Amino acid sequence: MSILMHVCTLVVKILTLPLLVADLLGLGRFYKRVFPALMYRFSFSYNSKMNEKKRELFRELPRFSPRGGPLRLLEVGCGSGANFQHYPNGCRVTCTDPNPHFKSYLQKSMDTNDHLVYENFVVAPGEDLRVVEDNSVDVVVCTLVLCSVKNTPKVIQEAKRVLRPGGAFFFLEHVEADPSTWIYFLQHVFQPFMYYFLDGCDPTRATWKHLEAAGFSDLQLRHFQAPISALVRPHIVGFAVK
Ligand SMILES: C[S@@+](CC[C@H](N)C(=O)[O-])C[C@H]1O[C@@H](n2cnc3c(N)ncnc32)[C@H](O)[C@@H]1O
Repeated sequence: MSILMHVCTLVVKILTLPLLVADLLGLGRFYKRVFPALMYRFSFSYNSKMNEKKRELFRELPRFSPRGGPLRLLEVGCGSGANFQHYPNGCRVTCTDPNPHFKSYLQKSMDTNDHLVYENFVVAPGEDLRVVEDNSVDVVVCTLVLCSVKNTPKVIQEAKRVLRPGGAFFFLEHVEADPSTWIYFLQHVFQPFMYYFLDGCDPTRATWKHLEAAGFSDLQLRHFQAPISALVRPHIVGFAVK
């Protein structure tokens, strides 16, 4: 399978050369304006299929609330705010995303979810959260983000830095499939298409390895197959305690 995979990947890379040129010419910057509208629509269908998984994950949030106070939550790569409905009443939310064009969609989700207190929307990549103080939040949330970031270990270290001791990093991410499967083959072959059409998304990331290496005191991580299209079916879900 390996030689066939490398040949097919090479063919797809050649086919996507015009996309590389378009990106170099600045079309990627234009696509950054279009992507939020696509993601906003996709999030409804993803949420309807993943509602139970998200409910199960975010049910754990209240145990990280400080005694007597509301949960302080930072969402990294918040996109259009697809997780807000799952956050507990009164939760104080700070959102970050490097793409400012998500703002109007984010506002719609904020208007719909008025059980939360929105503190700030910061335009910043997860690799550089300097606007957030050390040890200042109870929970950091990342869903469908670590496939697109430039430096996964750096994003996880930034999350760890801003978490208070005992706080938790919550994640729900699609990941690389088992190498013995056809999904693994397809993920590697179609990776260049996904990169250009899904704003830098890489379906071949073994994100769990970075979480395991990050030095959290406790890591609750499960692999599962999401009921969505094959290339992004393998998922991990869980939380890591600082
Ligand atoms: C597939 S969308 C997911 C959005 C949202 N988290 C959700 O679950 O619907 C990926 C998001 O990651 C953001 N992103 C891309 N690169 C990033 C980075 N380096 N740091 C933080 N977020 C990033 C994108 O702008 C986009 O909002």
